[in-house]
Amino acid sequence: MRRLVLTAVTSAVALLIATPADASAARPGASGVGDAYFPLAGNGGYDVRNYDLNIRYTPATKAFSGKASIDARALQSLSRFNLDLRGFEVRSVTVDGKAATFTRDGQELTVTPRRDVRRGEKFTVVVTYDGTTGQPTDNTGALYGWVSYDDGSFVANEPEGASTWYPVNDHQTDKATYDFTITVPDGKTAVANGELVSRRSERGWTTFTWRARDPMASYLSTASIGDYDLRFSRGPRNLPIIDAVDRDLPPEADDGLARTGEMISYFSDLFGKYPFSSYGAIIDDDEDAGYALETQTRPIYSGAPGESTVAHELAHQWYGNSVSPALWRDIWLNEGFATYAEWLWEEHTGGATAASQFDTLYARPDTASIWRNVVADPGATNLFVSSVYDKGAMTLQALREKIGDRSFFALLKAWYALNRDSVASTADFIALAERISRQELSPFFQTWLYTAGKPATW
Ligand code: ARG
Ligand code: ZN
Repeated sequence: MRRLVLTAVTSAVALLIATPADASAARPGASGVGDAYFPLAGNGGYDVRNYDLNIRYTPATKAFSGKASIDARALQSLSRFNLDLRGFEVRSVTVDGKAATFTRDGQELTVTPRRDVRRGEKFTVVVTYDGTTGQPTDNTGALYGWVSYDDGSFVANEPEGASTWYPVNDHQTDKATYDFTITVPDGKTAVANGELVSRRSERGWTTFTWRARDPMASYLSTASIGDYDLRFSRGPRNLPIIDAVDRDLPPEADDGLARTGEMISYFSDLFGKYPFSSYGAIIDDDEDAGYALETQTRPIYSGAPGESTVAHELAHQWYGNSVSPALWRDIWLNEGFATYAEWLWEEHTGGATAASQFDTLYARPDTASIWRNVVADPGATNLFVSSVYDKGAMTLQALREKIGDRSFFALLKAWYALNRDSVASTADFIALAERISRQELSPFFQTWLYTAGKPATW
């Protein structure tokens, strides 16, 4: 009641002071955040604060049912708004406990609340949905999202696959915290981001509750289900480490993880304090998939990872996860950095130097794929190509030689410190590099990041 009165007063005042007459008029939220590679990824008009995902899944039948409670805040007055969701039957949608109407069109779930949501207002959307899961593919035909296997699910969402398993504002510009409540048949293990809060068994079902309390981009969320053993240990500065390793793998499957603690210390010294509240790995037994993803706090590996892959996914926790790309064309800020971190780790542990990694790649012929794409704008179907990873890492080595170790390592630290828990663009990186080095670097970056082909001089 009181709220209604306040609303009336607030609106009257707003009407009096608003300059354009309809500045506070409710209008639909946009169907995308404006990322040219994926125009429908994410949505406009609100900011998600927390996802509370309640999932029940039976691997044998691939039957999935979910209830997502999404706490958000309106960034404009909303007559309706969108979520991203692919597949499933939506059973009901409520906004602040009241039934809302909804329509579906492709990946867009459009929700019309019973009354407008006012700008600045916090609201909660609850969506119940169910269906049978499969093997979704991205725009290149690669598996992504909730990928179903007979023994469980392998979950990897990059770039916009979170919408294959829950209704979401599916873009890294809207980070949120997460609660996961995942119910699976007894004997199966469900692993998500963050820390395990509880594990309870009742009448043949086990419910795992996980909480990820650091802001997270949706493409980094996971809820992998399988025949995992959970192992709890501690890393540097007592950081909780939770690994999940498939029981069907041979004992040496986790050999690549052996130096994780050392890696955390090394990268923390170089980049800044480890960003999140825990770490660990998920190692599945789908060796053929050859896939790894830096899911936040808990990277997933489709099979036993090598040490350099482990270093790569760990480095992403700083570069990619805490500092995320503003747009998907900035993907080299993830992959070039993580590849360069592999080189640093290798040099640190007595292997090839970063300079020699650069030389080896530079010797590749002019026709090699590494020179094919534009590093800082590779195209929506080329997010994970060699130009982005390898030429991206070469760009950092060339920059290091140009501005010197002192500026370069100060830059790596500042890039993280200034942009943590947020997003940043290539232009931001160039500006910071110029500021720290006090050099004019646009010709250098034009050559390395914005021109395809093998750089001749820089
Ligand atoms: N970001 C992942 C990595 O650690 C790669 C993801 C590859 N995704 C794909 N659809 N091929 O490098
Ligand atoms: Zn990567």
